[in-house]
Amino acid sequence: MQRLYRKRIIVGVGGGIAAYKSAELVRRLKDQGAEVRVVMTQGGREFITPLTLQALSGHPVHLDLLDPAAEAAMGHIELARWADLILIAPATADLIARLAQGVANDLLTTLVLATDAPIALAPAMNQAMWRDAATQANLELLQGRGMRLFGPASGSQACGDVGLGRMLEPNDIALLAADCFQRQALDGLHILITAGPTQENIDPVRYITNHSSGKMGFALAEAAAEAGAKVTLVSGPVHLPTPDRVSRIDVVSARDMLAACEAAMPCDVLIAAAAVADYRPEVVAQHKLKKDPSSGEGMLLQMVRNPDILATIAGRDDRPFSVGFAAETENLLEYASRKLRDKNLDLIVANDVANPSIGFNSEENAITVIDRELQQISFAQTSKGKIARQLITLIAERLNKN
Ligand code: C5P
Repeated sequence: MQRLYRKRIIVGVGGGIAAYKSAELVRRLKDQGAEVRVVMTQGGREFITPLTLQALSGHPVHLDLLDPAAEAAMGHIELARWADLILIAPATADLIARLAQGVANDLLTTLVLATDAPIALAPAMNQAMWRDAATQANLELLQGRGMRLFGPASGSQACGDVGLGRMLEPNDIALLAADCFQRQALDGLHILITAGPTQENIDPVRYITNHSSGKMGFALAEAAAEAGAKVTLVSGPVHLPTPDRVSRIDVVSARDMLAACEAAMPCDVLIAAAAVADYRPEVVAQHKLKKDPSSGEGMLLQMVRNPDILATIAGRDDRPFSVGFAAETENLLEYASRKLRDKNLDLIVANDVANPSIGFNSEENAITVIDRELQQISFAQTSKGKIARQLITLIAERLNKN
């Protein structure tokens, strides 16, 4: 059921007695890692309170189309775009009829018209209403437009009748919801990525850093999230927006970065794309350093080694599949293979930062990946986004082999 991880699902609650099961459905979806927003019709509110569904989904329930406060928070078009799936449970005969007609007279029916996401209906109604020719014709129309039908089940009904029309059980609906999403290469895996430079303070106004922009690490985080992974991105100071569905932790120094990575463990894969400062000033001056006439024209700054984040994590008993970067200006493949061995890595990504079109801060990259058998896999120069997707595919292949 990892396919629901971080999937955005709108649960639409119509006005039927089965609405009491919607509460359980929201829990099931959340248990599988889905993000859930609930939209209720006027009828739905007669059967179960918005407060119950707010508590279970962790978000205010969306009720009205023309509520200025709700529209200011997340407008109906934004909500329609947000969704990966709209799941209407219970879908009553009236709601099904309105959807078949393309009516948009409340928030839920409006969202259905406005969304590009798949839509699934879990019908719930009296057996005679289910069998009625109008309901059946409406459902045929909606299925013809691509809507999915979950159920209904057969059995005893709240009204005392026995027959088809019971809403499926929440667990079964959640399983069918997962089937709406294709399996992805990194479904359910936790990928930890470091990105950007680190800053090592000299005094309150000065620091030592490097030219890393964070673009490669951020592109990898985006590609890993697209491939279904749970992504933690530990980033030094950069000017980049956080990719969708990525948890970002901002850090400043190498030691902060190591602490953040250790706190994010365990993970299945570590990709260390950060350009970590190898050294930091031994002491950070409390006050701004002044020019010292006694030292003449020069100044000495005593530096000490920073911890190696990648080697530390790759050396743990619970070590993840570990991927490092070797940004070099000379002897690229030789230095890269040495780092692979010294840091106990599974893969190392070598890139030639002497070439300005693929170096630090550039939009493109070209890489050679080296594995433990010293086999080389090269990816030609292209955008960092494409390189990131190629690298994520390679990592997924290697994980499957192991
Ligand atoms: O040894 P070098 O700095 O060239 O190694 C580069 C690789 O090691 C990169 O993947 C980088 O993110 C990682 N690294 C690290 N912590 C350090 C230094 C490098 O994680 N202190």
